[in-house]
Amino acid sequence: MNAKDTSTGTEILIDASRLHALVSALWEQAGSEPTEARLVADHLVQANLSGHDSHGVGMIPRYLRSLQDGELKLNMHARIARDAGAVLTVEGGRGFGQVVAHEAMQAGIARAGQLGICAVGLRNAHHIGRIGHWAEQCAQAGMVSFHFVNVAGDPLVAAFGGIDARIGTNPFCAAFPRAGKPPLVLDFATSRIAFGKTRVAYNKGHQVPPDSLIDHTGQPSNEPRVVHEDPRGSLLPFGGHKGYGMAAMCEIFAGALSGGFTTHDGTLMTNSAIINCMMSVIVSPTAFDAPDAEGEADAFIAWLKASRRAQGVDEVLLPGEPELARRAERSAHGTPVDKATWKQISDTARAVGMTDARIGELAGVAAG
Ligand SMILES: NC(=O)c1ccc[n+]([C@@H]2O[C@H](COP(=O)([O-])OP(=O)(O)OC[C@H]3O[C@@H](n4cnc5c(N)ncnc54)[C@H](O)[C@@H]3O)[C@@H](O)[C@H]2O)c1
Repeated sequence: MNAKDTSTGTEILIDASRLHALVSALWEQAGSEPTEARLVADHLVQANLSGHDSHGVGMIPRYLRSLQDGELKLNMHARIARDAGAVLTVEGGRGFGQVVAHEAMQAGIARAGQLGICAVGLRNAHHIGRIGHWAEQCAQAGMVSFHFVNVAGDPLVAAFGGIDARIGTNPFCAAFPRAGKPPLVLDFATSRIAFGKTRVAYNKGHQVPPDSLIDHTGQPSNEPRVVHEDPRGSLLPFGGHKGYGMAAMCEIFAGALSGGFTTHDGTLMTNSAIINCMMSVIVSPTAFDAPDAEGEADAFIAWLKASRRAQGVDEVLLPGEPELARRAERSAHGTPVDKATWKQISDTARAVGMTDARIGELAGVAAG
């Protein structure tokens, strides 16, 4: 089984390894070296498998536009701009985030292995996608990590008390590794809902949840058109002043400390590029005087899981468990790709010179 129409007829299911082969081939055809093409495919397909379609293969058309605009640079590598021992500053050079963030984490993991801790300031990376991917790279190496990210120059979210879009959807992520078990991975945008979810609702004519949006006059709205049609309103931060404060600290830690840039009227992005800066703190848990840290974490997790549950809830989940469940399901049954997105991906593959026959052969599904 590689593809079938779902009951709604709006999606196809594509086998993850075939989707990976297509994405890899597409970027090689566009000019990426094989390792770059593979890292991009690893990241995008894993985002889809994890259930975060907004950060998966649907990004490909935008990446190609950014390449054509001269914003995304192929075959760039992370460059250490300053090595201060436990602090590394890394220049991304607008290269594929999937490459430069991978290399920045490799450098940070190696240094945290030597010193117990390393802070990595990565600047000027093209879109680094699902931040959990980087936390999982650290966790696979046995490292705890925290990641503060800004979406530099792309304001969509209002400040608490303000009514203009002034901040990006700035994600925060943290991971705790566990021997022989999946890590805990907390990974979210600091907006109440992701911008991609407003687009889906807009296209379907649906409303968004309350307290997610305001219109351009600052009035609350459940209508996604208020952020998709002029005059534009804003997304709201999650959790009122708390989410707002976290978004602001992400902006400054990531954009300012890395030597990159924050969002203000001198830095607004007006093209297809998505530029991320990320400040990651990578810590070796073995550097603490805590021989039973995992045991303590496990005891706490068991205590959480034993909680009485609200009506309709089967299980209290840990950060990262919804993504694991989705990965298991999609690895077994295929990754759903909506037909509009499949058409856009097919058009992008054609634009870099792939034939419909080649697209179909790689994906196991006819080109859209
Ligand atoms: N690169 C960028 O510029 C950028 C910007 C914004 C967001 N993102 C990415 O977008 C993705 C989606 O963000 P989002 O805000 O929509 O995520 P979300 O609202 O789906 O929250 C995801 C987090 O909440 C946890 N979670 C979800 N349901 C849970 C439950 N019932 N019990 C316990 N934990 C639960 C998940 O395990 C995960 O850690 C993230 O991967 C983020 O990194 C990237």
